[in-house]
Amino acid sequence: VTTPSREKIWKMFDAIAPTYDRVNRVMTFGMDQRWRKKVGDFLPKGENLSLLDCATGTGDQMLALNDKVSSAIGIDLAEDMLKIGRAKLVHLPHISFQTGNMCALDFPDGTFDCATVSFGIRNVTDVPGALREMHRVLKPGGRALILEGSMPSNWLIRKGHLLYLRHLLPRIGGLLSKNRDAYRYLNKTIETFPCGDAFCTLMRTAGFSTTTAHPIFFGSVTLYVGEKR
Ligand SMILES: C[S@@+](CC[C@H](N)C(=O)[O-])C[C@H]1O[C@@H](n2cnc3c(N)ncnc32)[C@H](O)[C@@H]1O
Repeated sequence: VTTPSREKIWKMFDAIAPTYDRVNRVMTFGMDQRWRKKVGDFLPKGENLSLLDCATGTGDQMLALNDKVSSAIGIDLAEDMLKIGRAKLVHLPHISFQTGNMCALDFPDGTFDCATVSFGIRNVTDVPGALREMHRVLKPGGRALILEGSMPSNWLIRKGHLLYLRHLLPRIGGLLSKNRDAYRYLNKTIETFPCGDAFCTLMRTAGFSTTTAHPIFFGSVTLYVGEKR
């Protein structure tokens, strides 16, 4: 079994890019699109919002928010994911894609009203560094909105979720993508990644003044909101 280090994780996404969207729909029973839409409820107030979507992959998070922002840039290291995103969102001229590392963002301080990252933060090599970068590129009053897999707090639901993560998800992902190792790796990272209060603490350490965690679907996913003062 070859599980990539987080250093090379984006290369694994190049390998699963052609089936990535379809596997997401099947694995979440179509709910991932609803979760991405929910992020829109927490956008900062105001008009003409500018959005940076970190680890954008095929751009689904920007697609979900496209009618709520006036411009959006998605960055990712996996060229094949970006290629699919560009083709998919070609009809939305206010959305663009760039190659970029979210641990070292290529934008000046205070550029964006909002920075999102969906199902991406747990894959980066330097989580505190990536959070500091999101904070840095936000304008004062801007918001970071982070969607990530988490562990349900109810023990029975957690048990069921672990069964799903460990046994069903790698099989479904493996069958559809022909890359079982990739999906085995992905759920292992969900189990071990800090969630809830622990993740909010990481966000505050990175500079966010207020942080809140909003559990979704029994806490199997959490939306984190961080404010920049
Ligand atoms: C699970 S996918 C999420 C894609 C997308 N945000 C979504 O919601 O479908 C994780 C993405 O993180 C990207 N990634 C991993 N490390 C990265 C880094 N340091 N900088 C930018 N993107 C990164 C991968 O290439 C991959 O496209």
